[in-house]
Amino acid sequence: MNNFPKDFLWGGAISACQAEGAFNEDGRGLAVSDVSFFDSELSNKSLTINKKITSKDINIALLDESTKHYPKRHGIDFYHHYDEDIKLCSQMGFNVFRFSISWSRFFPTGEEKSPNKKAIKFYDNVINKIIENGMQPLVTISHFDMPLQLSLKYNGWLDRKLITLFRKYANTLFDCYSNRVKLWIGFNEINASKFSAFKSTGVVEDQSNNYQQDLYQAAHNQFVASAQIKSDLSLKDPNSKLGCMIAYFATYPLTPSPADVLAAQQKDYEDNLYYTDTMINGEYPYYAQRIWKKNNVHLDITKDDSQLLKQNKPDFLSFSYYMSNIAANNTTNNSKTKGNLRDTIVNPYLKKSEWGWQIDPLGLRYSLNKLYARYHIPLFIVENGIGANDKITIDYKIHDDYRILYLNDHIEAVSESIKDRVDLMGYTMWSALDIISSGTSEMSKRYGLIYVDQDNYGNGTLSRHPKDSFYWYKNLISKYS
Ligand code: BG6
Repeated sequence: MNNFPKDFLWGGAISACQAEGAFNEDGRGLAVSDVSFFDSELSNKSLTINKKITSKDINIALLDESTKHYPKRHGIDFYHHYDEDIKLCSQMGFNVFRFSISWSRFFPTGEEKSPNKKAIKFYDNVINKIIENGMQPLVTISHFDMPLQLSLKYNGWLDRKLITLFRKYANTLFDCYSNRVKLWIGFNEINASKFSAFKSTGVVEDQSNNYQQDLYQAAHNQFVASAQIKSDLSLKDPNSKLGCMIAYFATYPLTPSPADVLAAQQKDYEDNLYYTDTMINGEYPYYAQRIWKKNNVHLDITKDDSQLLKQNKPDFLSFSYYMSNIAANNTTNNSKTKGNLRDTIVNPYLKKSEWGWQIDPLGLRYSLNKLYARYHIPLFIVENGIGANDKITIDYKIHDDYRILYLNDHIEAVSESIKDRVDLMGYTMWSALDIISSGTSEMSKRYGLIYVDQDNYGNGTLSRHPKDSFYWYKNLISKYS
């Protein structure tokens, strides 16, 4: 299956809020991820995902300074282990490493006049280490961890003020690192307001008069912010590339009935393509009006916004791919998947992960072709992987053949897409190391190629151990690059 171009980017990804920890060290402020609690009753194969965060939850979290119920506060302590972690990744032959920068490490409340010097230093070290180890850094500027203060004070991205504050943060990163970082992503999964609204926008539902309206406005403000920083980066460093990112869920009709086919098309528009069409074409798609009407949404869009969007389109489209979904005109009589990021009808042709995510490698080829045919700009798969409850043997071996199978089948589908002539820049699997789950805040939902010795309660030595999949991926990269 070696259809991969010589300059193909092979690697893995992590995010600051799931890996770094050190939530109260060196001046870092609280982030929205720090109030995302772990419910021990749901531990181990919890099928409940994305519990909604209310104002009450935030108030309780603010009174609790420990990490016990808030595992993202300790992560896997990448903050102190980055050297070892990056070296391990380079041993697999990665030539790219995707990670994110913590906004509240730079600007603890989001509104400080100048950035935290210790944050600048930390990421200087991380970036240098990545480069020293033969990899390119791929940096996500905002991955589900905006400063909590901005959520409390402005109801997050609902307020246009966030555009200015984010612009300042992003430009600080460009000033510090664009001499070494050439690949950037503005927002992780910019369509996440559809399934992880608080983490992605900071909008708290009980603080909204019209929640749907507020989420669409928040997404609009993020579109404008993305266009603004694209313009800034182009001026500062025309050689750097800034991509947009969505979580792509291939959406199939339940039956060939035209009503189901139409339902699938509409769902794809609403959940996925609304976001990419707007950013990549530089204007809202024709069908947006109908979506707004259905949701009683009236957006505040200025002339300047429209101008910015038109003139500053992303250089590439990156996306995460974990599963496919099914849509139907009438969903009532069909059993739904559990634990999925999105509630979807069970697809009888697909196996599922322990957490109920439906495994669909061919759906990845379908998605790559669909997105490339629509936009004709380079694509980048920046997340793809399987969460599993790995077991470690007494001699520190992790036999994760299910992960090898998952990744192998997906990479085969990627290879076929390249043969189809899809222009694909790279593939960063999720996740390079085991990290805290974004949706359930538990440790036992492991995605890594490298095992991290820590349980759901934060107990463990934090020692790192390559899994069988580590050696398999290393071998695959050496074969195909
Ligand atoms: C993506 C996120 O939506 O899914 C990651 O960008 C996340 O941050 C990944 O970890 C897997 O989800 P989860 O909930 O299983 O960790």
